[in-house]
Amino acid sequence: MTAQLQKATAPPAGRPGDPERPGATCTPYAPGAPPVTAAASPAPPHLLEACGITKTMGDKILLHEVSLTLDRGDLKVLIGPSGGGKSTLLQCIHFLNPPDGGDVFLDGESARDMSRMNICLFRREIGMIFQDFNLFDHLTARDNVAVALRRVKGWAKREAYDRAMAELDRVGLASRADLYPAQLSGGQKQRVSIARALAMDPKVMLLDEPTSALDPELIGEVLKVIQDLHEGGMTMLMVTHQVGFARHMTKEFLFMESGRITESGSPEELLRDGSGSRTSDFCSKLSEIQGG
Ligand SMILES: Nc1ncnc2c1ncn2[C@@H]1O[C@H](COP(=O)(O)OP(=O)(O)OP(=O)(O)O)[C@@H](O)[C@H]1O
Ligand SMILES: [Mg+2]
Repeated sequence: MTAQLQKATAPPAGRPGDPERPGATCTPYAPGAPPVTAAASPAPPHLLEACGITKTMGDKILLHEVSLTLDRGDLKVLIGPSGGGKSTLLQCIHFLNPPDGGDVFLDGESARDMSRMNICLFRREIGMIFQDFNLFDHLTARDNVAVALRRVKGWAKREAYDRAMAELDRVGLASRADLYPAQLSGGQKQRVSIARALAMDPKVMLLDEPTSALDPELIGEVLKVIQDLHEGGMTMLMVTHQVGFARHMTKEFLFMESGRITESGSPEELLRDGSGSRTSDFCSKLSEIQGG
């Protein structure tokens, strides 16, 4: 077992692989400081590396030099209390909401200094799934998937429709392709949004509570799709409160509160009896609420 229970008691700066800084792999960037460089190690770069991400709103610091890495095929699970910064972190990694400091490397390429056009290309390679699906209500399931292929990738209608059908089939919705979002259940809508993200051939997917808007009986169908993606090798960072599911799928939980990743480690390590981890305490409270 490689992951360890790690507590954030260390100073903010850290070296790659620093055991005192959960998730840390690189020296954080601060405005005015020299550019961040990806971990200077002989190993190949991580598929995705977030280094020292900071985000401020007014006088409130939402993210304090948060770092994490994803290697190919990883599924890492971000959990923690409401307001801890999980969604903000995903949005910063995606550059939907660009960070104020720090950097994101995808396949070793820095996003911070990219031109607008290259940021668009970078964002295309990172699929983002939101809890509220973000579908176009006036488009059918197939058009919701095809529209991005046509507008963003410039595909012809026939090509885009064929690919949309293939992705809808992959999430078990080929027979619902002609229905509008209002005619689909929440679980089906979320599966359409996953199909739409997959159609863009992302290298990584960021999922922000993909099942939290769903009735309990619909959660399973979305989790099944996520499980299939993971088994198929998709690299994912997922915020979820479905700890029972997540603990069997992930090798690493990242616990986030007050804008920091304060613990990281394997579910076995963090959730074992007597670990005393904040993650374990949080998960116990969650399962009381969820009746687990
Ligand atoms: N646009 C904004 N302006 C000001 N503060 C914001 C904004 N967006 C988020 N915040 C604040 O940032 C902090 C982190 O919010 P965020 O949504 O990232 O938390 P979260 O961990 O995703 O919470 P939840 O589990 O409830 O989804 C919160 O204190 C929130 O109030
Ligand atoms: Mg959130």
